[in-house]
Amino acid sequence: MPERILAAVAWPYANGSIHIGHVAGTYLPADIFARYHRLKGNEVLMVSGSDAHGTPVTLTAEEQGVGPEDIFSKYQAEFLDSWKRLGISFDLFTTTHTDNHFQVSQDIFSRLLEQGYIYNDTMVQPYCENESRFLADRYVEGTCPHCNFEGARGDQCDNCGRTLDPKDLLGMTCRICSSAPEFRETEHFFLKLSAFQDQLLEWVRKQEHWRPNVRNFTIGFLEGGLHDRAITRDIEWGIPLPLDGYQDKRLYVWFEAVIGYLSASIEWAQNRGTPEAWKPFWEDGSRAYYFMGKDNIPFHTVIWPAMLLGYGGLNLPYDVPANEYLNLEGFKLSTSRNWAVWLPDYLDSYEPDPLRYVIAANLPETSDSDFSWREYVRRNNDELVATYGNLVHRVLSMLNRNFDGVLPSPGELDELSSGLLTEAQARFDEVEAYLEAVRLRQALQSSMALAQAANRYLDQKEPWRAVRQDKQDAAQTLWTTISVINCLKTTLYPFLPFSSQKLHEMLGFDGEVEDSGWKWDPQAMVPGQQLKRPTPLFQKLDAEIIAAEEQRLAE
Ligand code: MF3
Ligand code: ZN
Repeated sequence: MPERILAAVAWPYANGSIHIGHVAGTYLPADIFARYHRLKGNEVLMVSGSDAHGTPVTLTAEEQGVGPEDIFSKYQAEFLDSWKRLGISFDLFTTTHTDNHFQVSQDIFSRLLEQGYIYNDTMVQPYCENESRFLADRYVEGTCPHCNFEGARGDQCDNCGRTLDPKDLLGMTCRICSSAPEFRETEHFFLKLSAFQDQLLEWVRKQEHWRPNVRNFTIGFLEGGLHDRAITRDIEWGIPLPLDGYQDKRLYVWFEAVIGYLSASIEWAQNRGTPEAWKPFWEDGSRAYYFMGKDNIPFHTVIWPAMLLGYGGLNLPYDVPANEYLNLEGFKLSTSRNWAVWLPDYLDSYEPDPLRYVIAANLPETSDSDFSWREYVRRNNDELVATYGNLVHRVLSMLNRNFDGVLPSPGELDELSSGLLTEAQARFDEVEAYLEAVRLRQALQSSMALAQAANRYLDQKEPWRAVRQDKQDAAQTLWTTISVINCLKTTLYPFLPFSSQKLHEMLGFDGEVEDSGWKWDPQAMVPGQQLKRPTPLFQKLDAEIIAAEEQRLAE
C-alpha cells in the first residue's frame, strides 16, 4: 500500500536570494526526503512558494526605491531557476500572492472568527511620528527581553527564537529613521492561542518521534504560557481582511504564510485538473512533514497547529524535523554582511550534486554545523571522486576493456563476494531506516560506508590482475561490484539525483532512475546486459578554488 506524504517546505521570503544556509536548513532535506518517498512508490506532495508579503518584502522594496511587486516577482523567478538547477523537486512552488491563496487565507480567517478563535480588540502599537505611520514587525528593532540579543525585531528574536510583541523590545527604535517611536492605540484582530494551550501541550508531549530540540523548545514555549497574538497589521502590502471597515489593515504575514501549505495543495490539485486531490494529503492516512530552520519552529509547532485545530478537519503536522544552523567558515551566515554563499552564484560555477553531497554530509540536524570551501573541495575530491566516482569508473572501464561492456556471469560466489552482497543488503536496510526517521546525514554516511566496503573488496580481489590469470574470478568480482554500485545508485539517488540518473544509464538501463523503485536485488544486474562506456560521475576540483572562494567571501 503506498503511503501518502505531504512534504511542507518553509516559504522563503521573496526579498533576497537563497543561500547555502537555507539549502541546508530547509530545501535539501525536504528534497532528499521527498525523492526517497517517490522512489519508494509513495504518493508525495511537496509544496512551498515565495512568502511575498509582510515587512521583509516592503522593507527591501523601500530600501531599493521600488514597489513590493517588483521585489517579489524578481525573487520568485530566481527561486524557480535555483530549484531547477539544484534539483529541488517541488510538485508546486507557488507564491502567497495568488487569488487562490488570498481566498483560502480569508476563508480560514472567517471561519476562525465565526468560531470565536479570532476576536478584535484595541492595542498599542509603535508609531513613528517622522514617518506618520505604524511600525509593524521588522520596522522596529531593539533588545530581546529574554536573551538580550540586540537585533531583535518587533515580532521575533532571531537569536532565541521567541515570538515577541513590539512593546517587549528594550530600547526600541524605528528601522527607517532610528528615532524612538511612541505607542498609539489601534484596533486589531487576535488569534486566541490561549484557548489551545492545554490541547497543544498534550499533543506535543505525545510526539516522541520528534527531534528532541524541536519537541523541547515547543514544550518550553507552551509551558511559558500562550498569549493571544495580533494577526493583523497596519500596512498596505498583503492580504486584506474579509470584513468591511478595515481597508487599511492586512493579515499578519505569518498568519497567512503558514496557510500557504494548504492553499498550495489546493492549487496543485486544481492545476492537474483534479480539484479534490489535495484532500487525502490533509486527512487521516497521510503524514505531514514540515521542513524548516529552527527560527521557524514556534510558527509550525504552535501557531499553525492552533489554527488547524480551530479550523477543524485537517491533519496536524506528523513531524517537524527543523534544523539548527549551518555556519560558513566558522561564522554565522549573515545576509546584511554578505557572509554567505549564494545559490545562484554557486550554480553558475559548479555542479549541483557536489553541493548537495557536502551539505548533506554536514546537515545541522542535531547541532550547528559548518560549511567551508576547504571541506567542500576535500569531500568532493576524497569522497565523491575517489571513493564513489572512481569505484564506478574502474569497474565499468574494466568491463568495457575486458568483456566488451557485456556484464559477465558471476558463477558460484566465493565468500568475499557473498559477504559484500550481504553487507550491501544490510546497508540498504539501514539507509531506509535512517531516511524514514529523517536522519539524512546518517543515511548518507551508510551509503558511503558501503562504497568504501566495495573498494576494499576490489583491492582484495584485484580483478585487474585476475583478468589475465583467472578470468572467471575477475568476472565474479566485477559482477558483484556492479550489483553493489546498482545499490548505491538507489540509496544515493535522493542525495545525488543527477549522478544517479547518469549512472542508471551507464549501467545499461533505460528511462528514469526515479521510476526504478526503492529496491535492491543483486540479480537485477543480469549477465548479458550491455553496459555503456563510462564518463566520470564527478570532477576533481583544483585546490586553488579554496583561496579564490575565500577571497570572494572577504570582499
Ligand atoms: N518566510 C519565512 C522565513 O523565511 C518562513 C515562512 S514559512 C511559512 O523565515 F510557512 F510560514 F510560510
Ligand atoms: Zn531573544
